[in-house]
Amino acid sequence: MVTTPSRLTLQKLVSPRFSPQEAQELTQFLTETPKKIPPKYFYDDRGSQLFEAICLLPEYYLTKTEMELLTRVAPQLPHHTGACELVELGSGSSRKTHIILQAYQQQGLPLRYTPIDISSSILEISAYNLLQSYPRLEVHGIVGTYEEALAHLPLTQLPCRLIYFLGSSLGNLDRQQCAVFFQQVYQGLQRGDYFLLGVDLQKERAILEAAYNDSQGVTAAFNLNILSHLNCRFGGNFSLPNFRHIAIYNDREHQIEMYLQSLVSQAVYLQGLDLHLSLAAGEKILTEISRKFNLRELQTELEDRGFRAVETWQDDRGWFGLLLVQKA
Ligand code: TRP
Repeated sequence: MVTTPSRLTLQKLVSPRFSPQEAQELTQFLTETPKKIPPKYFYDDRGSQLFEAICLLPEYYLTKTEMELLTRVAPQLPHHTGACELVELGSGSSRKTHIILQAYQQQGLPLRYTPIDISSSILEISAYNLLQSYPRLEVHGIVGTYEEALAHLPLTQLPCRLIYFLGSSLGNLDRQQCAVFFQQVYQGLQRGDYFLLGVDLQKERAILEAAYNDSQGVTAAFNLNILSHLNCRFGGNFSLPNFRHIAIYNDREHQIEMYLQSLVSQAVYLQGLDLHLSLAAGEKILTEISRKFNLRELQTELEDRGFRAVETWQDDRGWFGLLLVQKA
Protein backbone atom coordinates (compact mmCIF):
# COMPACT_ATOMS: atom_id res chain seq x y z
CA MET A 1 0.00 0.00 0.00
CA VAL A 2 1.21 3.49 -0.75
CA THR A 3 0.94 5.68 2.28
CA THR A 4 -0.32 9.18 1.76
CA PRO A 5 2.04 11.74 3.27
CA SER A 6 -0.82 13.40 5.11
CA ARG A 7 -1.12 10.39 7.41
CA LEU A 8 2.38 11.07 8.74
CA THR A 9 3.68 14.28 10.26
CA LEU A 10 6.98 14.69 12.04
CA GLN A 11 8.09 17.31 14.49
CA LYS A 12 11.82 17.46 15.18
CA LEU A 13 12.87 19.06 18.42
CA VAL A 14 16.52 17.96 18.32
CA SER A 15 19.25 19.07 15.97
CA PRO A 16 22.29 17.01 14.95
CA ARG A 17 24.52 19.69 16.40
CA PHE A 18 24.59 19.98 20.18
CA SER A 19 23.25 23.07 21.92
CA PRO A 20 25.11 25.08 24.58
CA GLN A 21 22.69 23.65 27.19
CA GLU A 22 23.56 20.10 26.17
CA ALA A 23 27.26 20.89 26.36
CA GLN A 24 26.81 22.38 29.80
CA GLU A 25 24.73 19.44 31.03
CA LEU A 26 27.25 16.88 29.79
CA THR A 27 30.19 18.78 31.28
CA GLN A 28 28.41 18.85 34.60
CA PHE A 29 27.67 15.11 34.51
CA LEU A 30 31.26 14.23 33.53
CA THR A 31 32.78 16.33 36.28
CA GLU A 32 30.63 15.02 39.13
CA THR A 33 31.93 12.37 41.55
CA PRO A 34 31.33 9.66 40.46
CA LYS A 35 31.43 10.73 36.82
CA LYS A 36 28.17 10.21 34.95
CA ILE A 37 26.85 10.30 31.37
CA PRO A 38 23.20 11.18 30.67
CA PRO A 39 21.54 7.96 29.41
CA LYS A 40 19.87 9.71 26.45
CA TYR A 41 23.28 9.44 24.71
CA PHE A 42 22.82 5.66 24.46
CA TYR A 43 20.38 6.20 21.64
CA ASP A 44 22.20 7.12 18.48
CA ASP A 45 21.26 4.95 15.48
CA ARG A 46 23.59 2.13 16.51
CA GLY A 47 22.52 2.40 20.15
CA SER A 48 18.85 2.08 19.20
CA GLN A 49 19.67 -1.00 17.11
CA LEU A 50 21.68 -2.55 19.94
CA PHE A 51 18.82 -1.86 22.29
CA GLU A 52 16.44 -3.74 19.98
CA ALA A 53 18.91 -6.64 20.11
CA ILE A 54 18.91 -6.53 23.93
CA CYS A 55 15.13 -6.95 23.88
CA LEU A 56 15.54 -10.27 22.02
CA LEU A 57 18.14 -11.74 24.42
CA PRO A 58 17.15 -14.87 26.32
CA GLU A 59 18.32 -13.37 29.65
CA TYR A 60 16.44 -10.11 29.09
CA TYR A 61 13.06 -11.31 30.34
CA LEU A 62 11.57 -7.78 30.56
CA THR A 63 10.43 -7.35 26.95
CA LYS A 64 8.95 -10.83 26.58
CA THR A 65 7.18 -10.67 29.92
CA GLU A 66 5.76 -7.25 29.22
CA MET A 67 4.62 -8.19 25.70
CA GLU A 68 2.73 -11.21 27.06
CA LEU A 69 1.15 -9.19 29.82
CA LEU A 70 0.22 -6.40 27.43
CA THR A 71 -1.35 -8.89 25.02
CA ARG A 72 -3.63 -9.98 27.86
CA VAL A 73 -4.36 -6.44 29.07
CA ALA A 74 -4.63 -4.42 25.83
CA PRO A 75 -8.22 -5.46 24.95
CA GLN A 76 -9.33 -3.85 28.23
CA LEU A 77 -7.77 -0.47 27.45
CA PRO A 78 -10.35 0.80 24.92
CA HIS A 79 -13.10 -0.05 27.41
CA HIS A 80 -11.50 2.26 29.94
CA THR A 81 -10.47 5.11 27.64
CA GLY A 82 -12.87 5.06 24.65
CA ALA A 83 -11.58 6.93 21.58
CA CYS A 84 -8.21 8.39 22.44
CA GLU A 85 -4.92 9.56 21.05
CA LEU A 86 -2.10 7.13 21.85
CA VAL A 87 1.11 8.84 22.89
CA GLU A 88 4.15 6.63 23.40
CA LEU A 89 7.20 7.91 25.24
CA GLY A 90 10.43 6.29 24.02
CA SER A 91 8.66 4.48 21.19
CA GLY A 92 11.74 2.83 19.64
CA SER A 93 10.56 0.03 17.34
CA SER A 94 6.90 0.63 18.35
CA ARG A 95 6.50 -3.14 18.70
CA LYS A 96 4.24 -2.88 21.73
CA THR A 97 2.08 -0.34 19.96
CA HIS A 98 0.95 -3.03 17.50
CA ILE A 99 -0.71 -4.82 20.40
CA ILE A 100 -2.42 -1.64 21.60
CA LEU A 101 -3.49 -0.50 18.11
CA GLN A 102 -5.07 -3.88 17.43
CA ALA A 103 -7.21 -3.51 20.54
CA TYR A 104 -8.46 -0.08 19.44
CA GLN A 105 -8.95 -1.24 15.86
CA GLN A 106 -11.06 -4.16 17.01
CA GLN A 107 -13.38 -1.75 18.76
CA GLY A 108 -13.67 0.32 15.57
CA LEU A 109 -12.14 3.34 17.30
CA PRO A 110 -10.08 6.02 15.51
CA LEU A 111 -6.35 5.27 15.38
CA ARG A 112 -4.11 8.19 16.14
CA TYR A 113 -0.57 7.60 17.35
CA THR A 114 2.06 10.04 18.57
CA PRO A 115 5.40 8.27 18.99
CA ILE A 116 8.10 10.20 20.83
CA ASP A 117 11.72 9.16 20.51
CA ILE A 118 15.14 10.75 20.69
CA SER A 119 16.33 8.79 17.65
CA SER A 120 14.74 10.02 14.42
CA SER A 121 15.74 7.09 12.23
CA ILE A 122 14.06 4.42 14.34
CA LEU A 123 11.00 6.63 14.76
CA GLU A 124 10.59 7.18 11.01
CA ILE A 125 11.10 3.52 10.11
CA SER A 126 8.60 2.30 12.68
CA ALA A 127 6.07 4.97 11.72
CA TYR A 128 6.21 3.88 8.05
CA ASN A 129 5.81 0.24 9.05
CA LEU A 130 2.77 0.99 11.18
CA LEU A 131 1.16 3.05 8.40
CA GLN A 132 1.49 0.05 6.08
CA SER A 133 -0.28 -2.21 8.57
CA TYR A 134 -3.09 0.13 9.61
CA PRO A 135 -4.77 1.91 6.69
CA ARG A 136 -6.84 4.14 8.99
CA LEU A 137 -3.91 5.13 11.21
CA GLU A 138 -2.60 8.68 11.51
CA VAL A 139 0.84 9.23 12.98
CA HIS A 140 2.32 12.40 14.35
CA GLY A 141 5.88 11.65 15.45
CA ILE A 142 7.94 13.86 17.73
CA VAL A 143 11.73 13.54 17.76
CA GLY A 144 13.00 14.81 21.09
CA THR A 145 13.50 14.12 24.77
CA TYR A 146 10.44 13.27 26.89
CA GLU A 147 10.66 16.62 28.52
CA GLU A 148 10.71 18.59 25.26
CA ALA A 149 8.04 16.46 23.66
CA LEU A 150 5.64 16.56 26.60
CA ALA A 151 5.88 20.33 26.57
CA HIS A 152 5.12 20.40 22.80
CA LEU A 153 2.27 17.93 22.46
CA PRO A 154 -0.12 19.37 19.88
CA LEU A 155 -3.78 19.61 20.86
CA THR A 156 -5.60 16.39 20.14
CA GLN A 157 -8.90 16.28 18.25
CA LEU A 158 -9.90 13.09 20.00
CA PRO A 159 -11.85 13.13 23.28
CA CYS A 160 -8.92 11.89 25.30
CA ARG A 161 -5.27 11.02 25.41
CA LEU A 162 -3.43 7.95 26.69
CA ILE A 163 0.26 8.51 27.36
CA TYR A 164 2.18 5.27 27.80
CA PHE A 165 5.67 4.61 29.02
CA LEU A 166 6.63 0.96 28.79
CA GLY A 167 9.72 -1.23 29.07
CA SER A 168 10.38 -0.04 32.62
CA SER A 169 12.00 3.08 31.23
CA LEU A 170 10.65 4.79 34.35
CA GLY A 171 13.33 2.84 36.21
CA ASN A 172 16.00 4.72 34.32
CA LEU A 173 15.02 7.90 36.19
CA ASP A 174 16.17 8.43 39.76
CA ARG A 175 13.62 9.41 42.40
CA GLN A 176 14.01 13.10 41.84
CA GLN A 177 13.91 12.85 38.02
CA CYS A 178 10.89 10.61 38.41
CA ALA A 179 9.05 13.25 40.45
CA VAL A 180 9.77 15.89 37.79
CA PHE A 181 8.74 13.47 35.05
CA PHE A 182 5.37 12.71 36.70
CA GLN A 183 4.74 16.41 36.87
CA GLN A 184 5.54 16.82 33.15
CA VAL A 185 3.20 13.96 32.26
CA TYR A 186 0.51 15.46 34.47
CA GLN A 187 0.86 18.74 32.61
CA GLY A 188 0.69 16.97 29.24
CA LEU A 189 -2.71 15.50 30.20
CA GLN A 190 -6.17 16.99 30.58
CA ARG A 191 -8.39 15.94 33.44
CA GLY A 192 -9.76 12.43 32.67
CA ASP A 193 -6.83 11.49 30.40
CA TYR A 194 -4.89 8.29 31.05
CA PHE A 195 -1.30 7.29 31.79
CA LEU A 196 -0.10 3.69 31.43
CA LEU A 197 3.20 2.54 32.93
CA GLY A 198 5.05 -0.76 32.41
CA VAL A 199 7.54 -1.45 35.21
CA ASP A 200 9.95 -4.18 36.19
CA LEU A 201 9.27 -5.48 39.69
CA GLN A 202 11.67 -6.28 42.55
CA LYS A 203 12.99 -9.82 42.40
CA GLU A 204 15.98 -12.06 43.04
CA ARG A 205 19.41 -10.60 42.35
CA ALA A 206 20.59 -13.48 40.13
CA ILE A 207 17.72 -13.01 37.66
CA LEU A 208 18.27 -9.26 37.53
CA GLU A 209 22.02 -9.36 37.13
CA ALA A 210 21.80 -11.97 34.37
CA ALA A 211 19.41 -9.71 32.45
CA TYR A 212 21.97 -6.89 32.39
CA ASN A 213 25.08 -9.05 31.84
CA ASP A 214 24.05 -11.18 28.88
CA SER A 215 26.36 -13.94 27.72
CA GLN A 216 26.57 -12.58 24.17
CA GLY A 217 27.89 -9.22 25.34
CA VAL A 218 25.17 -7.17 23.63
CA THR A 219 24.50 -5.11 26.75
CA ALA A 220 28.23 -4.49 27.10
CA ALA A 221 28.37 -3.29 23.48
CA PHE A 222 25.32 -1.08 24.10
CA ASN A 223 26.93 0.44 27.20
CA LEU A 224 30.28 1.05 25.45
CA ASN A 225 28.55 2.56 22.42
CA ILE A 226 27.65 5.59 24.54
CA LEU A 227 31.36 6.53 24.37
CA SER A 228 31.40 6.28 20.55
CA HIS A 229 28.36 8.51 20.47
CA LEU A 230 30.10 11.10 22.66
CA ASN A 231 33.23 10.87 20.49
CA CYS A 232 31.15 11.52 17.43
CA ARG A 233 28.88 14.23 18.81
CA PHE A 234 31.32 16.10 21.02
CA GLY A 235 34.66 15.38 19.32
CA GLY A 236 35.91 13.09 22.07
CA ASN A 237 38.72 10.57 22.04
CA PHE A 238 37.43 7.86 24.37
CA SER A 239 39.20 4.62 23.49
CA LEU A 240 36.62 1.86 23.91
CA PRO A 241 39.05 -1.01 24.64
CA ASN A 242 40.13 0.95 27.72
CA PHE A 243 36.72 0.43 29.35
CA ARG A 244 34.57 -2.47 30.46
CA HIS A 245 30.87 -2.87 31.15
CA ILE A 246 29.67 -3.55 34.71
CA ALA A 247 26.08 -4.07 35.88
CA ILE A 248 25.36 -4.83 39.53
CA TYR A 249 22.21 -4.91 41.62
CA ASN A 250 22.18 -2.50 44.53
CA ASP A 251 19.55 -4.18 46.74
CA ARG A 252 19.38 -1.35 49.25
CA GLU A 253 18.25 1.03 46.49
CA HIS A 254 16.46 -1.70 44.52
CA GLN A 255 18.29 -0.76 41.35
CA ILE A 256 20.64 -2.15 38.74
CA GLU A 257 23.59 0.20 38.30
CA MET A 258 25.47 0.18 35.00
CA TYR A 259 28.97 1.51 34.83
CA LEU A 260 31.85 1.82 32.40
CA GLN A 261 34.99 1.04 34.31
CA SER A 262 38.29 2.51 33.21
CA LEU A 263 40.79 -0.35 32.86
CA VAL A 264 43.83 1.93 32.91
CA SER A 265 44.80 5.34 34.18
CA GLN A 266 44.00 7.58 31.22
CA ALA A 267 43.29 11.07 29.95
CA VAL A 268 40.37 11.85 27.64
CA TYR A 269 39.64 15.08 25.79
CA LEU A 270 36.30 16.26 24.42
CA GLN A 271 36.95 19.03 21.94
CA GLY A 272 33.34 20.17 21.66
CA LEU A 273 33.27 20.82 25.41
CA ASP A 274 36.91 21.82 25.68
CA LEU A 275 37.02 19.38 28.57
CA HIS A 276 39.98 17.32 29.78
CA LEU A 277 39.10 14.31 31.91
CA SER A 278 41.43 12.11 33.84
CA LEU A 279 40.35 8.66 34.85
CA ALA A 280 42.12 6.47 37.39
CA ALA A 281 42.54 2.74 36.76
CA GLY A 282 39.41 1.09 38.14
CA GLU A 283 37.37 4.33 38.19
CA LYS A 284 33.73 3.85 37.23
CA ILE A 285 31.49 6.15 35.17
CA LEU A 286 27.79 5.70 35.96
CA THR A 287 25.80 5.43 32.71
CA GLU A 288 22.41 4.11 33.83
CA ILE A 289 20.32 3.00 36.74
CA SER A 290 17.37 0.67 36.32
CA ARG A 291 15.11 0.81 39.35
CA LYS A 292 12.96 -2.14 40.27
CA PHE A 293 9.53 -1.36 41.63
CA ASN A 294 6.91 -2.39 44.09
CA LEU A 295 3.55 -1.82 42.36
CA ARG A 296 1.74 -0.74 45.49
CA GLU A 297 4.35 1.87 46.39
CA LEU A 298 4.37 3.19 42.85
CA GLN A 299 0.60 3.46 42.84
CA THR A 300 0.67 5.44 46.10
CA GLU A 301 3.29 7.77 44.68
CA LEU A 302 1.14 8.46 41.62
CA GLU A 303 -1.90 9.03 43.82
CA ASP A 304 0.10 11.54 45.85
CA ARG A 305 0.80 13.36 42.59
CA GLY A 306 -2.80 13.81 41.53
CA PHE A 307 -3.47 10.62 39.59
CA ARG A 308 -6.31 8.19 40.30
CA ALA A 309 -5.43 4.48 40.10
CA VAL A 310 -7.62 2.68 37.58
CA GLU A 311 -6.13 -0.82 37.51
CA THR A 312 -2.88 -2.75 37.95
CA TRP A 313 -1.88 -6.04 36.38
CA GLN A 314 1.10 -8.38 36.70
CA ASP A 315 2.26 -11.59 35.05
CA ASP A 316 1.90 -14.99 36.77
CA ARG A 317 5.44 -14.90 38.15
CA GLY A 318 4.97 -11.38 39.50
CA TRP A 319 8.00 -10.17 37.55
CA PHE A 320 6.51 -7.27 35.62
CA GLY A 321 3.65 -4.86 36.23
CA LEU A 322 1.34 -2.58 34.28
CA LEU A 323 -0.33 0.33 36.00
CA LEU A 324 -3.13 2.42 34.50
CA VAL A 325 -3.93 5.74 36.13
CA GLN A 326 -6.08 8.71 35.21
CA LYS A 327 -5.57 12.41 35.78
CA ALA A 328 -8.11 13.17 38.51
N1 TRP B 1 14.35 0.53 30.66
C1 TRP B 1 14.87 -0.77 30.43
C2 TRP B 1 15.62 -1.30 31.63
O1 TRP B 1 15.89 -0.58 32.54
C3 TRP B 1 15.73 -0.81 29.21
C4 TRP B 1 17.10 -0.25 29.33
C5 TRP B 1 17.45 1.03 29.39
C6 TRP B 1 18.27 -1.01 29.35
N2 TRP B 1 18.78 1.12 29.44
C7 TRP B 1 19.32 -0.12 29.42
C8 TRP B 1 18.54 -2.36 29.28
C9 TRP B 1 20.62 -0.52 29.49
C10 TRP B 1 19.84 -2.79 29.34
C11 TRP B 1 20.87 -1.89 29.45
O2 TRP B 1 15.91 -2.47 31.68
